[in-house]
Order: sequence, then structure tokens, then C-alpha cells
Amino acid sequence: MNYIGSKLSLLGFLEESINKVVDKNCNTFCDLFAGTGIVGRYFKKKGFSVIANDIQYYSYVLNRHYIGNHKELTFTKLSKQIPELQNKEIDQRGAIVCDYLTNSKSVKGFIYKNYCLGGTKNRKIQRLYFSDENGMRCDAIRQKIEEWKNHSLINNDEYYFLLATLLESIDRYANTTSVYGAFLKKLKTSALKSLVLRPAELIINDQEHQVFNKDINVIVKEVNGDVLYLDPPYNQRQYATNYHILETIAKYDNPTINGKTGLRNYEDQKSIYCSRPKVKEAFKDLILQAKVKYIFLSYNNEGLMTTDDIKEIMSLRGKYGYFTKDYNRFRADRAENRKFKASKTTEYLHYVVCT
Ligand SMILES: C[S@@+](CC[C@H](N)C(=O)[O-])C[C@H]1O[C@@H](n2cnc3c(N)ncnc32)[C@H](O)[C@@H]1O
Repeated sequence: MNYIGSKLSLLGFLEESINKVVDKNCNTFCDLFAGTGIVGRYFKKKGFSVIANDIQYYSYVLNRHYIGNHKELTFTKLSKQIPELQNKEIDQRGAIVCDYLTNSKSVKGFIYKNYCLGGTKNRKIQRLYFSDENGMRCDAIRQKIEEWKNHSLINNDEYYFLLATLLESIDRYANTTSVYGAFLKKLKTSALKSLVLRPAELIINDQEHQVFNKDINVIVKEVNGDVLYLDPPYNQRQYATNYHILETIAKYDNPTINGKTGLRNYEDQKSIYCSRPKVKEAFKDLILQAKVKYIFLSYNNEGLMTTDDIKEIMSLRGKYGYFTKDYNRFRADRAENRKFKASKTTEYLHYVVCT
């Protein structure tokens, strides 16, 4: 998923830097601002036991699958509904269930009625986040997953695999530039294609993992580990508003929505890490509470906290240091009418060896 602040392109830098600091006996990796879970997934594949957390429920769903699921999924109880499952190898079963769901009969549900042109055309505000066809498919798939869970035809592991698959898949057909803070006026080419569920990757390993959906300053008091990796928001952009439709698809709770973009209430998910006056205090509390051997923090040189703020706070726990990586960020430049301008930013990985 194309996610604000995703560390997909920095995984090598993170691993290389972390390996220069930590001892050989580290087994537990905590990724407590987990987002898409891409960092936890990387360290899970390296054999770590991972603890993941995020305040957003769609992120919990992704991590509950990518991190929490670590054994094959059999979908045994769906064999009556989906006869193609019988006598099939275990590793093909997820894909068969996804094909079945992709072809299920369309439903005019919450997503179609509120985020598609067909569903909103006679209302005060029209929205075009998805084609009518994809909105109805999304509703049909989401409702079927819930029905299977309610009838105990799938277990929790299978449920989260299917939900994560739906979130990852629907995001590829959204009629946006990348986040859900606005939609485009005309359906773009990728939004015109028909939604097909592509099974989310299942990472098998022998370790047990834990996944939470809490505020980081709460969960940090409840977990222990060796390495704590922190990747908070860097600026004022709230994830709750930028990904509100994924939150609603994940929860499917018929929320009251408002305004041009159909925003759900996010009072409980407003991040203090996006607030210039409050971030330092929250960060200090977090660093002081962590029960780990090493803390790493990703942040860039344009974030709400300065490098000096971070150094001062992290040094309270022990020996502080940092690694940096410069990268070119490409920005659309409106004044020059769709020309793209490169600007340099420096990505920091701060760390402290806790004493
Ligand atoms: C920079 S993103 C993490 C990106 C992630 N490392 C990745 O590569 O996908 C920051 C994440 O922190 C989460 N977040 C913000 N405030 C939080 C809080 N107080 N507690 C827990 N999670 C929070 C956001 O929902 C968002 O997913």
C-alpha cells in the first residue's frame, strides 16, 4: 500500500544501522507505530518475534494478518460453500477463497451509498471515491466476510487475512491521488478497472507474535522487548483523516459521516504526535516508559521535533547516537504546471542503548 511515511524504501538502511548497534541475543522486535506493518514484516522474516501496534484499526487489521498470522490457513469450514477447496493444497486455498469473493454478487451497501456516484447522485454532496461497480463489490465482499465470521465458518486468522486482502486490494482501485483526503473529479484509469482480490502475503514462521490497537503511550507500559522501533508521524497530517475510508471498510460500522469527503469522527484517534505543542511531552513519556534494551526512532530533518529535542530526550535513557540517509523527494510544483522538482531531505535513525 502506498502509505504516508512508509519505510518500504528504507528497510535496508534500517537493518544495516540496527545491526551495527544491537547485540546478538535480541529476539523481540517492537514496531509500535506500525502503519502498513512493512518494518515488522521485514524483521519477522529475519526470525524475530514481533510486537506490532497502531492507533488505526485498518492498520491493526493489516498487522494482525501480516504479523499475527504465522501458520497456514486452511479454510476447512468453507468447503461446503466453496467445493473447489476440497482436495486442494493448503497454500492454494486462500487464493480460491479470494476468487470466490471477487465473484460474489454485488451489494448496494455503505461504501456504494456514500462514496460512489451512483449512491450519492441524488444527495447534497456527490462523491467519487470508487466506481459504482467497485463500491458494490467492496460492500459484497465485506458483508460476506462478516457473515462467515458470525456463522463460525472462518476463524480469526482467516478473518483477518481476508480483511487485510480486501483493504490492500480496494486501495489499488481508489479514485484518489493516493490518500483519502480528496477524490478526483473523473474516474482515473486504475479506478475504472474491476476490483479483483489479490491474496495478502502470508509469512510463515515458528515464533509467536502480538498485535495491538492502542495509543502508543498506553501500550508501551504493557509490553517488554529487546528492540523498540518508533516511526511516528513527522508532521501535522493526521492518519485518521487521510485513511478514513479504509478505517470504515475495516470496521464496517455504519458511522455518521460529514462534509465533502464523508469523514467519520476521529476524536479518539487524533495523534498527539501530530501536535507541535504536545509532541515533545508525549515523546519524553514514551521514551521513559519503554521496557527494552534499545530504542530506534525514524524521523526526518523537517519534523515537528528538532534533532536537538530528540537527542536531549533519548539521552535520558543511555548512550545516544544516530545514522542518516539523504534522499531526493519529488514534489509536484503547481506554479510550474506539473513539472516535478526534486528536493533533498535527510532521514534520521536516532538510537539509544538503554542503561
Ligand atoms: C509514519 S507512519 C508508520 C509507517 C510504517 N512504519 C510503515 O512503514 O508503514 C505512523 C503511524 O503511527 C500511527 N500513530 C500515530 N499516532 C499514534 C499513537 N498515538 N499511537 C499509536 N499509533 C499512532 C499512525 O496511525 C501511522 O500508521
